[in-house]
Amino acid sequence: MVRACIEICPIFVTKSVGGEHFSKKMFAYKLMDSRQAREMTTELHDRHIEINLSDASTTIPVRGELDRKPSPCVLPFKYLEYADRIRNLTVYEDDVWVVTFPKSGTTWTQEMVWLIDHDLDYETAGKVDLNVRTVFIEASAVIGDYLGDTVGAVENLVRPRHIKSHLPLALLPEQLWTVKPKIIYCARNPKDVAVSYMHHYRHLHGFNGTDEAFLEGLLNDQVLWCPQVPHTLDFWNVRHLDNVLFNQFEEMIKDIMGVLRKTCSFFKKSYTDEQLVKLAEHLSFDMMKRNPSANHTQLLKTLETVRNTTINFSFMRKGQVGCYKDELTPEFTQRLQEHVDRQLAGSSFQYME
Ligand code: A3P
Repeated sequence: MVRACIEICPIFVTKSVGGEHFSKKMFAYKLMDSRQAREMTTELHDRHIEINLSDASTTIPVRGELDRKPSPCVLPFKYLEYADRIRNLTVYEDDVWVVTFPKSGTTWTQEMVWLIDHDLDYETAGKVDLNVRTVFIEASAVIGDYLGDTVGAVENLVRPRHIKSHLPLALLPEQLWTVKPKIIYCARNPKDVAVSYMHHYRHLHGFNGTDEAFLEGLLNDQVLWCPQVPHTLDFWNVRHLDNVLFNQFEEMIKDIMGVLRKTCSFFKKSYTDEQLVKLAEHLSFDMMKRNPSANHTQLLKTLETVRNTTINFSFMRKGQVGCYKDELTPEFTQRLQEHVDRQLAGSSFQYME
């Protein structure tokens, strides 16, 4: 494992208390080889790293209200093949970037912004799978080569390109902050994310540990794309920029019309109330659950092939606020809340309930 890593990044190797640390010029990363970290790997991604931008001093747009380093990220080892290409990607002004921590309403946001940006073209939206219309840039690093080269797919997308990512701000293209395309971030309460991610990780990624093991891994930020709170805070810090829209899942549940109006205004698009009502209906949980073009039917089929198994899982699972109460114990809920509160200390941001 170490030899493979040194072959890819022969820059320098240092030892430190937390394990072996490597530097890849732009990025510093360490292999995550504790027992708990290894438990969070699956057949799809069997080695994890924690990766940081080496020098964020000049490349992060706003330091924000907290003087802290930008969020690191847990990713598959394979991400190192794509890290530089993503960070150095050519960005266009008419790009649309949907960025979220997993299970925070990514799919919902993708469908909403694609339609708003494409003059409510339901016909194309119904014919072309959402994952083709909005390419998941780092997917190749997680699912492997079955999806082809998803960074290349983004490079070759017809403009305006719609791109999805779960990467934290520091790993995204540096040009986002000079070219200033539209970036739509969607946050979700970590307690509901925990439950949603637990089911997703088991059914889609093939996690076969216990629910408790997964939740402990999440609490210790050992799961893919963790940590969640710094991920959100990095985007909360840039929410005032003209090219950034910061939404929340709970806001979409409670006031979809308000979110649609805010998002249309961000896109400088003007639709009638009647058109917005129709859009809200199209985006409702029941409609999206039944919509094969937006409910990840194709992705599930791909994962069935990749993992050589049958997946009995609906991506549109419950679509509610507060469903953690049915599945998390009061003790775990309290520990998770304390973990979140510690990381939010000093910030004006609060997750919605
Ligand atoms: P649950 O697992 O809690 O049901 P992502 O797209 O980021 O992976 O997020 C998936 C979550 O968003 C799932 O949450 C899913 O049900 C929910 N979701 C997707 N589309 C939705 C919609 N139209 N309305 C409400 N929730 C939706």
